[in-house]
Amino acid sequence: MIFVLLRPCTGYTGTGHGMEPSSQIDKSKLPQHIAIIMDGNGRWAEERGQDRLFGHLNGVESVRNVVEGAAELGVKYLTLYAFSTENWERPPYEVSGLMELLVETIKKEVPTLNKNNIRLQVIGDVEMLPDNARKELEQAITDTAQNNGLTLILALSYSSRWEIVHAIRQMAAEVASGKINAQDIDKNYFERFLCTTGLPDPELLIRTGGEIRVSNFLLYQIAYAELYFTEVKWPDFRKNHLFEAIIDFQHRQRRFGKTGKQVVENKPEC
Ligand code: IPE
Ligand code: IPE
Ligand code: MG
Repeated sequence: MIFVLLRPCTGYTGTGHGMEPSSQIDKSKLPQHIAIIMDGNGRWAEERGQDRLFGHLNGVESVRNVVEGAAELGVKYLTLYAFSTENWERPPYEVSGLMELLVETIKKEVPTLNKNNIRLQVIGDVEMLPDNARKELEQAITDTAQNNGLTLILALSYSSRWEIVHAIRQMAAEVASGKINAQDIDKNYFERFLCTTGLPDPELLIRTGGEIRVSNFLLYQIAYAELYFTEVKWPDFRKNHLFEAIIDFQHRQRRFGKTGKQVVENKPEC
């Protein structure tokens, strides 16, 4: 069952309980890995009579604020869907504007990432990125590699179908070279070829901007993620919206195919 939470689209307006959302979060039950589809930038700008790039520019502040919120709480992994394989099909001016914004933002943010002990990683077909963007990213990944607080994963030129086909191609090469027998391929072996190898699956997937779909994002990895959709467009999304999504997550019963009774009975004694 998908939960749809409708929110106003003009910034954070509170929970209505008179309590700060962060104080309602059970820190012992945080989702380890949160993934966000940052959507709605273009419409946000168009509503204001502005160019779509204005929306992307304003979305950068949301990234800063949400990353800060996740790090403050102690979330271990945050994956942000920033640019999909399909987004290459957008008008060239929008694609190049987004790439420039990416380069500028990464350059500027590395000191803040280091100050906050945040490690940067990337998933996706980075070979497709312009040279300067790829170099800035590689530099930022190296410069933050020693940090051990939040791991921030940018999904860039990423799509699940690309990732899965890419993984299968690599596995097929291993079978062809005799490194493994096809019948010995299991779930663990397959996962080694995904971009997310070594990362826990996202437990909470958030999509902003009002669309109720996953747009080719982490299709394999979100098999058991809790899905949270909000009308808030990305440039209006702030850490308190993230906290509300986490509170909602903490009220769900995750059954993983079992019955509700089994889940309750297996809970450790308090
Ligand atoms: C998400 O916002 C950012 C990217 C896909 C790069 P959009 O640009 O998709 O904004 P809308 O959905 O058109 O409003
Ligand atoms: C998904 O948003 C991709 C990112 C947020 C980077 P899109 O705006 O591209 O998705 P669709 O086209 O509405 O499905
Ligand atoms: Mg969109």
